[in-house]
Amino acid sequence: MTTTTAQAAELAEPPGKGEAAIKTEGLRKTYKSSRGNVEAVRGIDLDIPAGEFFGLLGPNGAGKSTTIGMLTTLVAPTGGRAWVAGHDVVAGPVAVKRRIGVVTQNNTLDMQLTVAENLQFRSRFFGLPARVAARRADQLIDAFGLRDRRNAMADQLSGGQARRLLIARALVHQPDVLFLDEPTAGLDPQTRVNLWDILKVLHDQGQTILLTTHYMEEAEALCDRIAVVDHGRVLAEGTLEELKDNAGAVTVVTVRFEGALPADFAERTGLSAHPSVDRAEIEGDQVRVFSTDPEGVLGEVISLGTAQGLNVRDAAQLKPSLETVFLTLTGREYRE
Ligand SMILES: Nc1ncnc2c1ncn2[C@@H]1O[C@H](COP(=O)(O)OP(=O)(O)O)[C@@H](O)[C@H]1O
Ligand SMILES: [Mg+2]
Repeated sequence: MTTTTAQAAELAEPPGKGEAAIKTEGLRKTYKSSRGNVEAVRGIDLDIPAGEFFGLLGPNGAGKSTTIGMLTTLVAPTGGRAWVAGHDVVAGPVAVKRRIGVVTQNNTLDMQLTVAENLQFRSRFFGLPARVAARRADQLIDAFGLRDRRNAMADQLSGGQARRLLIARALVHQPDVLFLDEPTAGLDPQTRVNLWDILKVLHDQGQTILLTTHYMEEAEALCDRIAVVDHGRVLAEGTLEELKDNAGAVTVVTVRFEGALPADFAERTGLSAHPSVDRAEIEGDQVRVFSTDPEGVLGEVISLGTAQGLNVRDAAQLKPSLETVFLTLTGREYRE
């Protein structure tokens, strides 16, 4: 592509895409290597309006970072399309980069610079005059609780402070969309909650945010809408309430016995015919029951097992939550 056509492509806004802060259609990424292909993202459709706090939730390897990579122009898609702030990520990467702030999983602070300098240098990179850059740095230092660390070198910051500075730095040019890839991974619980508070304030101020996380409680605490992803696909999408309703607001009862169960345990004992049992799964030594009316189900499973001469090793009951949604959708336990 010549420079002229590239520039023209950057100016051309795809019709009807202006409203969405982020839109994707069948977005894909297959990594090719001599050891074989990895289908990291297998056709993802997103439509995220301006102002929304959107979460991509999924276990390790689900394709979250690859998706963020494509939306932030760092990873080239192998299929589908994506628009951020109205610009096509492939045809208009420069326009996209001007309108987004990105915090990746690595600490990319400049360790040779102070906190204030990290912010000022980034502002200068975006073309802000020195005086404006200094003022913007001061605002962000206050907003992110870094006042007493203003002149500290970046390598002297705690994990939580570094993460706050990374987010502040991503905001110097007041981007339309802020991308955060696992912003609280590796932080202790208190530091994580402090960071959540900062993100909530940003959201209240109207900042559009796309966050990835493998922490269910993080998605629950922060996001207006959540896409549950696994193996490169969106399994379900909606508000927390919608997800629970659509995946069935089920309680999941799990009982583990001492020793393997016969595969037809649920039929043989009449468990699958029980009025409160929507579905029963047998796996090795455990019975898992999905129920929308779980009263008495746990006791029933235990007594049916005991009647078969089985001893109970362990029993658990999960109330409807993102965890039960994931179990219902995948048949697998959610492992962080
Ligand atoms: N540069 C790469 N080359 C080859 N495979 C990759 C590369 N980056 C990620 N993958 C693979 O793609 C899949 C999705 O990875 P990733 O997007 O990092 O998931 P997540 O961020 O949800 O943990 C994984 O199987 C991962 O091993
Ligand atoms: Mg990742």
